Amino acid sequence: MLVLGIESSCDETGIALFSDKVGLIDHKVNSQIDLFKEYGGVIPEIAARDHSNKIIKILNKVLKENDVTIDQIDLIAYTAGPGLIGSLMVGETVAKTISKVKNIEIIPIHHLEGHILAPGIENRSLKPPYLCLLVSGGHTQIIDCDDYGQYSILGETIDDACGEAFDKVGKLLNLEYPGGPKVAQLAKSGNSERFNFPRALTQKRNLDFSFSGLKTAVLYELENLNVTDYADVAASFQAAVIDVLVKKLSWALETKDYKKLICSGGVAANEMLRIKLDQLAKNTKVQVYYPSLELCTDNAAMIAYAGYIRKSKKLKKYDVEFSRPRWPLGELYA
Ligand code: KG4
Ligand code: ZN
Repeated sequence: MLVLGIESSCDETGIALFSDKVGLIDHKVNSQIDLFKEYGGVIPEIAARDHSNKIIKILNKVLKENDVTIDQIDLIAYTAGPGLIGSLMVGETVAKTISKVKNIEIIPIHHLEGHILAPGIENRSLKPPYLCLLVSGGHTQIIDCDDYGQYSILGETIDDACGEAFDKVGKLLNLEYPGGPKVAQLAKSGNSERFNFPRALTQKRNLDFSFSGLKTAVLYELENLNVTDYADVAASFQAAVIDVLVKKLSWALETKDYKKLICSGGVAANEMLRIKLDQLAKNTKVQVYYPSLELCTDNAAMIAYAGYIRKSKKLKKYDVEFSRPRWPLGELYA
């Protein structure tokens, strides 16, 4: 089975080819980061136009470089949501047009399912059940993955996403958008214990997150500091975020006999987070898995792979219900 993957939910245009025999054949991503540096964030209208300008070129490049023709494709998997509507429509239109003209089966994919399954692309023996920490620019969730297509959100952010907090703090520290990788880089030379930034919602056992107060605490702290203190601020901020992520994950791991933990999404590229998660995994005797760095951020490989999984497991199309059970540890939603 040869699957064409298409991703265009936010500011990355991705095209991928995945086959059941070979695995990931190729994937290419055009990031729009350079377009948004001057604005410090994504402008949906510009993102949609750029997807529209680039997507066919990327598709042709992937096909040509791998000696594949459209007629050889058995399944088209595209990101149906969630995301920016204008951006999503570009990928969906390309997917549906090829499907209609060439009579190829098409399967809509939930973007978060792509992230949840991403560690399996390069590690084909990795299968649910597992616990997933999904940390990206738009999401921060702890998800119980009981089986393919069966996901329950155990906890999530009630305000900013984790990557969003990194990006906002990056802006406060005058770093280029997106701030996440730059804050992480700056943190390497800083003292993470200098500032005791708040660890929200950790007083009681509860699996939800809140990062907006942390960003405000950084803002107030900066009023009394100058640029030579910024590395310490970055390190202390990063430590506060990671402390909370690790604490909540350790609580989540206690709720079931998990053997595997995965971490995906853009922030899963963070080195310090990986170090701390590796320690947590060692202490709690679970195996931890991450996608390779390039598959942490948005890409079409994870969409193609999710399409392959859904088709081969005969899962109903787009039945991914991210259910939110009444979580016994959760105070906020009880
Ligand atoms: O998964 P992703 O590409 O897009 C969304 O679906 O949101 O994640 C992008 C996010 C951005 O907020 C970016 O700053 C963050 O991931 N990020 C990082 C690192 N690399 C990317 N955050 C912290 N440390 C990193 N090394
Ligand atoms: Zn994403």
